[in-house]
Amino acid sequence: SPGWPGLIEAYRSRLPVSDTTPVITLHEGATPLVHARELSSRTGCEVYLKVEGANPTGSFKDRGMTMAITKAVEEGAKAVICASTGNTSASAAAYAARAGITCAVLVPQGKIAMGKLAQALVHGAQLLQVEGNFDDCLALASKLAIDYPVSLVNSVNQYRIEGQKTASFEIVDVLGDAPDIHCLPVGNAGNITAYWQGYREYAADGTATSTPRMWGFQAAGAAPIVNGAVVENPSTIATAIRIGNPASWTKALAARDDSGGRIDAVTDRAILSAYRLLARTEAVFVEPASAASVAGLLQVHAAGELEPGQRIVCTVTGNGLKDPEWAISGAPAPITIPVDAAAAAAQLGL
Ligand code: F0G
Repeated sequence: SPGWPGLIEAYRSRLPVSDTTPVITLHEGATPLVHARELSSRTGCEVYLKVEGANPTGSFKDRGMTMAITKAVEEGAKAVICASTGNTSASAAAYAARAGITCAVLVPQGKIAMGKLAQALVHGAQLLQVEGNFDDCLALASKLAIDYPVSLVNSVNQYRIEGQKTASFEIVDVLGDAPDIHCLPVGNAGNITAYWQGYREYAADGTATSTPRMWGFQAAGAAPIVNGAVVENPSTIATAIRIGNPASWTKALAARDDSGGRIDAVTDRAILSAYRLLARTEAVFVEPASAASVAGLLQVHAAGELEPGQRIVCTVTGNGLKDPEWAISGAPAPITIPVDAAAAAAQLGL
């Protein structure tokens, strides 16, 4: 089809595909890099938002899923499985539908946003709610993929990382070089691993002159990497990153340390405050987990640890429409009026 071909075609030479690979795409990628005026003025830096909610299923997971499903089909898989806090399952369900294969998803009971549940169901996934948390779901999915003929498409699948690294490529392609700092939320730690791999690949062949410092942020109630210990019962309103034992823990530490970066915790209060600031001042509606990147940046700035003048990219990972609960609960109830212009004008203070 015409237009942007999707990220596999766009970055074919940098991805593990051949001329005969059957590419499964929804034309993901090429997401906006939006200059953040308010964040730039608050921090004295040049801040951009990489708006991953603009992907086909509304999150960055589509970058990894186009690769993972493409490779699964190439290898002859008839079924895929994943554990998810909601976005991975939404994406896997859509790409599996596109490929005409079966998709099974394991989600923590009662802990995924309604929009994400709707996506898995409408695309025809077989959904099981597990009486446990995400970490339990991932252990179960991994076991099933070993014992039964079904491919695991969580980010422990290296093809997921390969697809997700293209976000770094797009950023460098637009900015002309790597930023000084890259901020992102950390859950299972696949995405920070992928971005770091992408930045390193561009620096290794001279496409970029440097790599950024990687700044990852976990929710305070689900911050195993920050605490240096597994969190048995992770808790945060940012359900997407409610993870107590990240699969890519060691790789996240490598990204942090090799880049001279940091991984810190942000409270739910700070996440919600950044969530509202993003919607009101930058006009970008994200889901709560996505706002952790911006909450983290503002926290480092408030601590006096952010030097002005730097170029910074914050990834906002998912679309706000997936999880509207916090947008509605934080707003006043709508006012009802009769069909009457004077009544409307009076209420609007016109
Ligand atoms: N932001 C959103 C919106 C997510 O859905 C996730 C992860 C993350 C950030 C963290 O990324 O896990 O690579 O460190 N969601 C997974 C899922 C766990 O199942 O959808 P990560």
